[in-house]
Amino acid sequence: MKICCIGAGYVGGPTMSVIAEKCPDIEVTIVDINEKRIKDWNDEDLNKLPIYEPGLAEVVKKARNRNLFFSTDVASAIKKSDIIFISVNTPTKSYGVGKGMAADLKYVELCARQIAELAEGDKIIVEKSTLPVRTAESIKTILKHNSKGNRFQVLSNPEFLAEGTAIEDLYNPDRVLIGGDQTPEGLEAIETLTQIYARWIPRERILQTNVWSSELSKLTANAFLAQRISSINSISALCERTGANVNEIAKAIGTDSRIGSKFLKSSVGFGGSCFQKDILNLVYLCNHFNLPEVAEYWNQVIKMNDYQKQRFAKRIIETLFNTVSGKKIALLGWAFKKDTNDTRESAAIFVASALINDRAEIQVYDPKVSAEQIYFDLEYIISNSETDLKLDDIRTLVHVHNTPYEAMENVHAIAILTEWDEFKNYNWQKIYENMLKPAFIFDGRDILDNTALLTIGFEVYTIGKE
Ligand code: UDX
Ligand code: UDX
Repeated sequence: MKICCIGAGYVGGPTMSVIAEKCPDIEVTIVDINEKRIKDWNDEDLNKLPIYEPGLAEVVKKARNRNLFFSTDVASAIKKSDIIFISVNTPTKSYGVGKGMAADLKYVELCARQIAELAEGDKIIVEKSTLPVRTAESIKTILKHNSKGNRFQVLSNPEFLAEGTAIEDLYNPDRVLIGGDQTPEGLEAIETLTQIYARWIPRERILQTNVWSSELSKLTANAFLAQRISSINSISALCERTGANVNEIAKAIGTDSRIGSKFLKSSVGFGGSCFQKDILNLVYLCNHFNLPEVAEYWNQVIKMNDYQKQRFAKRIIETLFNTVSGKKIALLGWAFKKDTNDTRESAAIFVASALINDRAEIQVYDPKVSAEQIYFDLEYIISNSETDLKLDDIRTLVHVHNTPYEAMENVHAIAILTEWDEFKNYNWQKIYENMLKPAFIFDGRDILDNTALLTIGFEVYTIGKE
C-alpha cells in the first residue's frame, strides 16, 4: 500500500512519520509546495528539521528513505497513492465573506481539484486538517464533478495531537476518530484506515462515526479545552482581587473526578494555531445556522482570552509607574507553549506589541524560536493593527538575544511568557544583581518559586495571586 500526505507542517510531518515508523511495509510520501520546508525535512542534519518536537528526529531517522519520503512532487505522489491525507493549513479568512471568522478552505479545495485531475484509479481521501462541518461534502462535490471516472471515498480523521508532545500523543492517543459515509463503500474505506492505526493502537480506541460527527467532534474538543483555560483564567482575575490563589483552586476543583485536573493551568492566555481558529470557526457555523445564542456562548471563550492577554500587558505598564516608554523589559519565551518552536497566536506576540506600542524596549529570549520569526510575528501584528508605530520601529525597539542572561541585563522588568523548564533553573540571584531596582518580575506562567524570588529582593507579580 502507498499513502501520501499533502502538507508537511506541524500536523502532517509528525503524523505521517509515525505511521511510516509503525508500518514499515507501507510507502509514505509527504509532499509540500514549500521547497525550503521539504529541503529541511530531507536534511542530513536532523537538527535542521523544520519542526522542533521532542522525539521527532529519532522517528524520522529511523524511517526516512526506508519507507518515508519527503518531496515537492505533489503530482506523482497523488498518482501513485491509494490513500491521500490532506493536511494543508486552513487559516482564518483574512478577506471577503466570513473575514476574521470562517476557515479559509482555498488550499483544501486546490488539493481536491488536483486529486480529481491527476488520479488514475480509485482513492481514499482523508481530511486531516481541521475543517468546518460539511467540508467533506464540498470535497466530494468537487471530486465528483471533475473526476475522470474514478471513485473516491472521503474520510474525516481529525488530529488530536498537541504540539510539544506530538510523538507521545501519536504513539498513545486517547482515541482515533474516523468518520465516513455509512454506505458499504464508505464503511470499507473506514475499515481500511482503521487497519493502519490498529497496527499500534488498540481497536477499542479507534472510534468510527459518520463524517459530520467526526468533523464537529474536532471543533468541539478544541472549544471545550479552550473553554477550560478561559474559565480558570477568569477566576485568576478574581483571585488577584480577593487573595485566593488560582493554583489552590485548580487543585481543589481538579480533584473532583467529574471536573478532572488537566487543562486548569491559569496562564497569560492560550495560543497556538488551533484554539482561536477553531472556535471562530464554530462561532461562524452557529451564526450561519442562525443560532446566535450558541455563537455568543463560544465567542466569550475568545473574549476572555483576549482579556487575559490585555490584562497582563496592562499590569506590567501600571506596575512600572504607568509608563514603560524608554524602559527595558526582558521577555522570556516566545513560543505559544514549551517544547515547540511554533509561535502562531502566541500570547507573547500580543504582550510584546502592547509594550512596544507604549514605546518600551524589549529584549527577547526563547530557546527555540529564531530572531527572524520574532520580527516576522511582530511585523505582522503591527501592520494589522491600528497603531502609530512604523515597521522600522520594531527593529529599533526589539532585540532578540541568544542567551537568557544577556537578555536580562540592565532591564527594569522581566516577564515570563512561555513555561520553558530551563527558566526555573536560572541563577536568579545573579540576574537580580544585574537588573535595575526595583527589580520587577511578572510570571505569566507561574513557574518560578515566588518565595525564593521575594527573598532575593524581587518585586513579584504572578498570574492568579494577589
Ligand atoms: C494544518 C492546519 O492548519 C490545521 O487546521 C490542521 O488541523 C492540520 O493542518 P499545521 O500542520 O500546523 O496545521 O499547518 P502548517 O504547519 O502551516 O502546515 C501546512 C503545510 O501545507 C505547509 O507546509 C504548506 O506549505 C503546505 N501546503 C499548503 C501545501 O503543500 N499545499 C497547499 O496548497 C497549501
Ligand atoms: C491543541 C489540542 O490540545 C490538540 O488536541 C489539538 O489537536 C490541537 O490544539 P496545541 O495547541 O498544540 O493542541 O497545544 P495545547 O497543549 O492544547 O495548548 C494550547 C494553549 O493553551 C497553549 O498556549 C498552552 O500554553 C495553553 N494552556 C494549556 C494553558 O494556558 N493552560 C492549560 O492548562 C493548558
